[in-house]
Amino acid sequence: MKTYSIALIPGDGIGKDVTEAAWQVLQAAAKRSGLGLEGTRFPWSCAYYRETGAMMPPDGVETLRKFDAIYLGAVGWPAEVPDSVSLHGLLLPIRKAFAQYADIRPHRLLPGVQGPLRSEGFDILCIRENTEGEYSGAGGRIHSGTANEVAVETAIFTRAGVERIIRFGFEQARARRKKLASVTKSNAQKYSMVFWDEVTREVAREYPDVEVSHYHIDAMAARMVMAPESLDVIVASNLFGDILTDLGAAVQGGLGFAPSANINPDRSAPSMFEPVHGSAPDIAHLGIANPIAAIWSGAMMFEHLGEAQAARDVMRAIEATTARGIGTIAGKDKTETITRAVLAALN
Ligand code: NAD
Ligand code: IPM
Ligand code: MN
Repeated sequence: MKTYSIALIPGDGIGKDVTEAAWQVLQAAAKRSGLGLEGTRFPWSCAYYRETGAMMPPDGVETLRKFDAIYLGAVGWPAEVPDSVSLHGLLLPIRKAFAQYADIRPHRLLPGVQGPLRSEGFDILCIRENTEGEYSGAGGRIHSGTANEVAVETAIFTRAGVERIIRFGFEQARARRKKLASVTKSNAQKYSMVFWDEVTREVAREYPDVEVSHYHIDAMAARMVMAPESLDVIVASNLFGDILTDLGAAVQGGLGFAPSANINPDRSAPSMFEPVHGSAPDIAHLGIANPIAAIWSGAMMFEHLGEAQAARDVMRAIEATTARGIGTIAGKDKTETITRAVLAALN
C-alpha cells in the first residue's frame, strides 16, 4: 500500500478543531483510494511557546523536511503571544525555508453557498508570492520615544523571486481560461512594483496564448467585488495576495470556505496545506468553526501528492454537503455536524 507521511501542525484556536475534523475526512478518502496516510502530530503553537520559549524546536524545520507534506491548522494567539513572535517563529519560516514560493488560493462558490454578493459565476485562482516582498522581515526601528522615532519595513523583490512566481502564474493560466491579471501598485511605488510590471511583460512574451492585464491593487479589490466573473488567474505579491485572498474568501461566502496550498513547485522540499483563515479566537472553543476550508486544503494536498482520485472524492463530498445546505451559513452548524456530513457523503 502506498503510504504518505504527513506532518500535522494543528496550531492554535480553531486550527486545532478544523485540523482534527479534516484529518478524519482525509483518512477516510485515503482508505477509499487504497492509500495510507500516516500523521505525525507536532504541538507547535503559542501554548508550546509559553512552555518552551520557542514556537518550535531549533531543529523544527529539519524535522519537517522528511515528510511528504505538512498539514497546518492556524497559528496565533495574540492575547498571550504577540503575532510578530508567533508567526515569525513558525508559519513564515516554514514557507521560506522550504521555498514554498507559490501560494495557491482558489475562490469559487461551492454549491448551495450564498456569497454576500453573488450566487454563482466566478472561478478565480489567486497565486500569491509567498517567500519575499513585503514579508522579507528586513527593516528596523529606533526606539527613541521621541517625535522623531522612525520604523522601516523594507520590501525585497528579487528577479529570481518575481520571475518564478509570474511564470508559475502563466503556467496556471495556460491550464485554465488563459487570462492572467498581475496586481501591483506601480503608480505609487516606484521601484519594486515597476520592476514587477517589467518582469511580467518579459515573461508574457513566452506565453503569447495568455491574455495579460495589469491592475493596481485598489482597482483589483473593487473588481473582485463588482466583476469577479471577469477574472481567471491573479498573480500578486505576498502582502497584496494576502489581502486579496481574504477578500476572495468573503466573496465566496466567508473565511470558512477558502483553502490554500503553499507549494514548492520544484519539489525540493515538502509543501504545506492550510486554510486561508487564522485561529479565530472569537469562536475558538465554541465548536462552530467551519472545517470546509481545511478539508478543501486537504484535497489540494492529495492533488499535489498525485492522488487525483482522492482529491476528487474529497471535493465531491464537500460539494454534496454544501448542496444540502450543511455548513453554508456561518455558525448554524457545528464543526462536528459538517464533518459527519462530509464523511457520510464520502462513503
Ligand atoms: P481569522 O481568520 O482568525 O478570523 C477572522 C474572522 O473570520 C473571525 O471573525 C473568525 O471567527 C472568522 N473565521 C475564521 N475562520 C473561520 C472558520 N473556519 N469558520 C467560521 N468563521 C471563521 O483572522 P484574525 O482574527 O485576524 O486572526 C486571528 C489569529 O490568527 C491571529 O493571531 C492571526 O495572526 C492568526 N492568523 C493565522 C493564520 C495562519 O496560521 N495561516 C492566518 C490568518 C491569521
Ligand atoms: C495567511 C495569514 C498569514 C500571512 C499571517 C498569519 C502571517 O494571514 O496565511 O494568509 O499573512 O501570510
Ligand atoms: Mn491572510
